[in-house]
Amino acid sequence: MHETAGVPAEIEQELARDFDLTESAHGAHGVVTTPAVRVDATFLDAVGPQLRIVANYAVGIDNIDREAACDRGIVVTNTPDVLTNATAEHAIGLALSLLRRICEGDRALRRRDPWEWGPDFMVGDSFEGKELLVVGPGRIGRRVAQLGEALGARPTLSGRGDDLLEHLASADVMSLHCPLTPETHHLIDTHGLAAMKPTAVLVNTARGAVVDEAALIVALQAGSIAGAALDVFEYEPAVSDELLALENVVLTPHIASATHDARLAMGMLCVSALRAVLLEGRPPPNAI
Ligand code: GLV
Repeated sequence: MHETAGVPAEIEQELARDFDLTESAHGAHGVVTTPAVRVDATFLDAVGPQLRIVANYAVGIDNIDREAACDRGIVVTNTPDVLTNATAEHAIGLALSLLRRICEGDRALRRRDPWEWGPDFMVGDSFEGKELLVVGPGRIGRRVAQLGEALGARPTLSGRGDDLLEHLASADVMSLHCPLTPETHHLIDTHGLAAMKPTAVLVNTARGAVVDEAALIVALQAGSIAGAALDVFEYEPAVSDELLALENVVLTPHIASATHDARLAMGMLCVSALRAVLLEGRPPPNAI
């Protein structure tokens, strides 16, 4: 028995070939979870002792208490690789939307603001020649660096302890690609934001809580950084009124991996993991 969490029809069909699907996790041998589901001891105990695998329909696993799963002998899997390009594309798309004021221009037209072409009308910035700081040198971060370089930016890949403040001070565009862990919680805080140039912009497609959102709002309101492009939020799905009120902010609802291809491939990784554990009795390659 398995729980499906609003998966694409193709994935539901694949699952239905081998498993009995239920909406309720209680009594399931495997569950498909999303970043919106907190998988902790209470959740696992509510599902029951027969549970053998939690297949997370995401690469990030900060929603899962791995120790609680491990204590109960439950396999946890995620969906690496197949969403790398989609997520990197989205990060670059957000950065371009912000730098080139695409969403701002779209909003102005929808409001029917009067306008005409002018040499200084809605002038933005190019990616070309910018210092691109990628925080989190994993698969997605490396792909962002590649795409940024193709657009003429100069990428630097940085790990957590890796002279972050120094790198922040020289970045024009800073894009976050690290997992959310106790060590990266509020990695970008008041100090980090203060280190950034007033012309710099922050892009977050990682997890909201990697940034201290209250401190980010203060920095944006004070103009101590030039803008932010956010796909993730500290108190997701809540998005603060202060962010919504700012013109120099681009917001999307946690859709960085949401291409048809990526979401199907992610689903197939979940299906293969469930088959491996429940039908074939072997550990799946994407087990954490
Ligand atoms: C989505 O946020 C993911 O971690 O895959």
